[in-house]
Amino acid sequence: MSNIGNYDERYKSFNWDVAKKELEYKDGDTINIGEYCSDRICRLGKGEKTALIWQGNVGQTKKYSFNELSSLSSTIASFLNELGLKNGDRVSLFLDKVPELYIGFLGVLKMGGVAQPLFSAFGGESLHTRLEDAGTSAIITQKKHIGKVRKIINDLPELKHIILIDDDKKKPLREREIAFSMEEATPATDYKVYKTTAESPSVLHYTSGTTGKPKGAQHVHYSLISQYMTSKYVLDIKEDDIYWCTADPGWVTGTSYGIIGAWSNGVTQCVLDAGFKSESWYKFIEEQKVTIWYSAPTAIRSLMKDGKEVADKFNMSSLRHLCSVGEPLNAEAVIWSTETYGLTFHDTYWQTETGSMMICNYPGMKIKPGSMGKPVPGVETCVVDLKTYEPITKPGIVGLIAAKPGWPAMFRSYWNNKEVYDSKFKNGWYICGDRASIDEDGYYWFVGRDDDVINTGGHLVGPFEIESALLEHEAVAESAVVGKPDPVNMEVVKAFIALKPGFEASDMLDLNIMNFIRKKLSPLAMPQEIEFVDSLPKTRSGKIMRRMLRAKEWGEEIGDTSTLEDD
Ligand code: WTA
Repeated sequence: MSNIGNYDERYKSFNWDVAKKELEYKDGDTINIGEYCSDRICRLGKGEKTALIWQGNVGQTKKYSFNELSSLSSTIASFLNELGLKNGDRVSLFLDKVPELYIGFLGVLKMGGVAQPLFSAFGGESLHTRLEDAGTSAIITQKKHIGKVRKIINDLPELKHIILIDDDKKKPLREREIAFSMEEATPATDYKVYKTTAESPSVLHYTSGTTGKPKGAQHVHYSLISQYMTSKYVLDIKEDDIYWCTADPGWVTGTSYGIIGAWSNGVTQCVLDAGFKSESWYKFIEEQKVTIWYSAPTAIRSLMKDGKEVADKFNMSSLRHLCSVGEPLNAEAVIWSTETYGLTFHDTYWQTETGSMMICNYPGMKIKPGSMGKPVPGVETCVVDLKTYEPITKPGIVGLIAAKPGWPAMFRSYWNNKEVYDSKFKNGWYICGDRASIDEDGYYWFVGRDDDVINTGGHLVGPFEIESALLEHEAVAESAVVGKPDPVNMEVVKAFIALKPGFEASDMLDLNIMNFIRKKLSPLAMPQEIEFVDSLPKTRSGKIMRRMLRAKEWGEEIGDTSTLEDD
């Protein structure tokens, strides 16, 4: 029997008090995610249970019990306090998927800090933008990434501490740098967790929009209520599960469901800190006896590309439930997974801003391949008219996905940007910025984003950020960046570039520009294709018409061009 039981009945009868009761939380109590994911599980008598099974890129493994999770996260929290950090301070985690990332995340929350995870493949500029905007006080990082931090530190006066978790003492540390080893530090005994309450800030995840710099979606400790409950109902997490979320905690899936979901339920989770390879993933499932697997369409399509034969070489009989998030999960991938693993990937839809799952497929509910499913118990959603924001009641009509504010994990602001935050709410609904339709049975069907943000392999990248970075290249006069269709990654970045006088298009220049963006921003933001053009289509007011360029890439109708310069 699944945790959710009959979806329709659960949806009708559910309210968030159910989750609060299970978590023994009453309105007004202190609530600290770090404490709930570690110390509380020990208090429930599960201290000896394995919390984390970690495997590195050369196959080395480490295991941590909930007792260790509790003690090590307190040790980190106490170290941060000793540095002078206090509640409300932003502490960034700029790490590969090493144990310190997961345990450090809890540590930051336990001392009342705001955890700001940053994807470790970020280049200097991506890093700088986010640290500067958040006024981050400390960054926890490792040797291999410290070079990127050192390059930008002079522009970041508020960044007072750079904490190095794997110092080998071979080179002297520089100003503001300090070494800290989680395993070698004197364990903190009897650490007093900071008494955060429901609305205390917890996590800050940066996400890209169409215009302007990336925005920090600010979450609160109360989000735990949603994250705990959806892990139970949607992921179907149970006491004896071995849960594997493949997402990197640099992105929201990797924290909400790669740290908080399983641990707040007292369930074992595993982490593979290695790049993608079908064989290694299957071997990991076989060896660790993974039972629940939460992944993404791009990964599933990559596994599909390698074929069923590869999957058949491994014993993955431990698996019992599969879920996916981040991009549209195409019907073929759903059907292939059923044929290959004997289990169907359940699509789930949500966002950095929503903090927890919103529209999902549930165990036991009929799956329509290609549909995102139905709203999560406790969450009211609909699609609203593109102009009036009135809910659309007729099936099959495309509108904007909207959710009634009030679910516990909803973001509470964009950091220092209340204006943009407020603009996301219309007619009493939070507008997600995606288009979809609902069929006669209440299933949601994703249509596309309502903006120019590019979704590449489940990661959002903002065209504006890339265009701004391109302008810093000596050869670029102007550029427009759009998503281009890709069979595996759904979209990849394509840049249209007009060169400055004196520069000529060439393969060398092409590579040089690609590399420039990869280093500055990240491998995700790097254009996979560059098209050199003489000029870019613009509106009469001089705004570059990305829409036209995008439509061409997708073979779509170009639409109204009456505002174009050269019409
Ligand atoms: C897209 C990731 C189709 C969507 C948790 C959304 C999806 C954005 C799905 C959020 C899905 C996420 N089907 N599209 N199941 N899940 N998306 O903030 O455009 O990194 O708005 O959060 O990804 O991406 P974010």
